[in-house]
Amino acid sequence: MSLPDYEPSSWTTSSNEALHVSLAEPEGAFTFNPTFTYPIFGDSEQIFGYKGLRIDLAFDCKSMYPFLGVKYETKLSDDVKDVEKTLLEFLPKETVVKDEALWLNKTEEENFEIPGKPVYTYQVDGETYKIFKFKLNDANGLKLHLRIQIFVLLFIEAGSYIDSTDDVWEIYAIYKCPEDKKESFVGFSTAYSHWKHPGTAVHDASETLELQFRKKISQFIVLPPYQSKGHGKNLYNCMVDEWLADDKVKEITVEDPSEAFDDLRDRCDLQRLNRADFLNGVKLPIDEPWIEKQVAVHKMDRRQFERCVEMTLLWMLQ
Ligand code: ACO
Repeated sequence: MSLPDYEPSSWTTSSNEALHVSLAEPEGAFTFNPTFTYPIFGDSEQIFGYKGLRIDLAFDCKSMYPFLGVKYETKLSDDVKDVEKTLLEFLPKETVVKDEALWLNKTEEENFEIPGKPVYTYQVDGETYKIFKFKLNDANGLKLHLRIQIFVLLFIEAGSYIDSTDDVWEIYAIYKCPEDKKESFVGFSTAYSHWKHPGTAVHDASETLELQFRKKISQFIVLPPYQSKGHGKNLYNCMVDEWLADDKVKEITVEDPSEAFDDLRDRCDLQRLNRADFLNGVKLPIDEPWIEKQVAVHKMDRRQFERCVEMTLLWMLQ
């Protein structure tokens, strides 16, 4: 071994670059790198002790049945981090390791049915997409959830797994649904229903109080091959429209939105509010009762509603 071989840098690999995520679709695979791997490989997002390291994490496009393959040219010693074992801790037990033929057989044998029922259908570039809604008490729903939850760690900063034993969670999954080919997973969102206290006065005065809820969008991901095509917009609008039509839902919130999600939410909320011509006839300065009424009508988080008012006023002043 020549002297430079002992340099730590020559045995160090970026875990974001080494990890290749693939979606095996009927006409070939989409492969992309994760944005984050620190929850799995540590803050520095580096793996020490290997040369020529490549990690393949592949998913069947419909069932999302996972396959893990780890290859390298040289390993420094047997004491370095076991990449396969480290990743398997974050993947479902059924993950097939190394044996691609076995993975293909298992995927075929399983004959997976997409869980839940389609709640919204839309078209992008002549292709049909459907949004399926399911809960974790649906066996197939739980199976799919456990397979796709790794994307939360790989694509959402500070993302973490939800409690998969809690049946309150609702999952909305987008699938590309061609007429003559296998369906392909595109992205998903998780949402939680919190009981919303109506205030002591209302609560105490009512004998038959109907439960009210606050919906919280917790995780929201469109996989990289499908980003910037309007899928995020369709998924967000589908969820919000469903909750606007539900009298029991009083407020819609988002947990820790990323900058990209804030941008998507602003555009969707502004379009919806302006379709309703929400500032028509409003006089400045805007009074408190008007704001309170509008926040309730549009079931928006107050800060988000005020942002939308400010943006619309700025746009009107131009
Ligand atoms: N052609 C070209 N561009 C389009 C089209 C189209 N047909 N439709 C939409 N766009 C543009 C939009 O104008 C927008 O432009 P911008 O990039 O300049 O902002 C952009 O595409 C994004 O809009 P969508 O396509 O509707 O959104 P997308 O499907 O890309 O989803 C999301 C956005 C969810 C943020 C996605 O990028 C993602 O998953 N990112 C990684 C994970 C993440 O950050 N998730 C949110 C975390 S916060 C939380 O989970 C609560």
